[in-house]
Amino acid sequence: SGVRSNEDMAERQTARQTVELGDVQRTLFFPLAARARETRKKRPLLRDLKAVEIVESVDFELAPIAPGPTALVVTLRTLIMDWWVRQFLAGHPGGTVIELGTGLNTRFERTDNGTAHWIDLDLPDTIELRRRFFADTERRQMLAASLLDEDWLPAAEQRPGPYFFVADGVLAYLREEDVTGMLARIAGRFPGAMIAFDTVTRASTGQELKMAAKRDVAPWQWACDDPRSLERLGLRLIESVPVTRPPAGLRAELPARYRYLLPLGDPIFGKRGLSLNLFQAG
Ligand SMILES: C[S@@+](CC[C@H](N)C(=O)[O-])C[C@H]1O[C@@H](n2cnc3c(N)ncnc32)[C@H](O)[C@@H]1O
Repeated sequence: SGVRSNEDMAERQTARQTVELGDVQRTLFFPLAARARETRKKRPLLRDLKAVEIVESVDFELAPIAPGPTALVVTLRTLIMDWWVRQFLAGHPGGTVIELGTGLNTRFERTDNGTAHWIDLDLPDTIELRRRFFADTERRQMLAASLLDEDWLPAAEQRPGPYFFVADGVLAYLREEDVTGMLARIAGRFPGAMIAFDTVTRASTGQELKMAAKRDVAPWQWACDDPRSLERLGLRLIESVPVTRPPAGLRAELPARYRYLLPLGDPIFGKRGLSLNLFQAG
């Protein structure tokens, strides 16, 4: 049924005391919890102390993702998107990163170079929650908006280019025509911008539907078997990888056990059908 109307969301919020977020918004706790858990490991792949702090202070009633493949997929997805953002900022230290559907993501904390500009965009109730843990600065700003609307585009345009848009674990929850409309709009308004997001395959959505029902969160709505097909929207596909095949530079930084074992995980992770894609507009 797509993104819920505000009225609909308000109704749910009064119905639930402990979790004051809409069904799609509540999915933000899964990646947050996965990154917090990874951080607590003896030899973690990423350190996200802010995620640990938030997880310890928010009271949410969701069955967390069990340790295992799903949590590792989230960690790897984070590492790969972080890697692309770092590459971008290395080339454009004063550019702007726009995190679409940011949830309680701490990518800025993980990748900031001291000069980058940053926009964290999400729906109003998520941003309200986010403001409990993050503050705006001169270089960094939170925006309460739907990524499907146009009203936030001027705020991005006011920041210095070039631009890097990232939507991490977000677009699968939206309707196909909404996603393609948004991508075409960004491609048209920000020529040359980089856009990174994950896609899930049609085959992988059945399993996910069951999990979503079990956890009472929004199910996926958009599957895309061939990211290249999105080039028709005015985008060029630069790189597309499964989480088991991180970009070469990142793979070289991973602990040896992951470097060698990850490709062997293809049969398990492959079923999850997640691709991480990096596009350039125009
Ligand atoms: C699975 S969470 C991912 C959060 C974050 N990207 C991360 O990796 O931790 C999905 C996020 O998308 C946001 N979202 C869903 N629909 C949206 C929309 N139309 N506009 C902006 N954000 C949206 C939700 O509020 C939620 O924070």
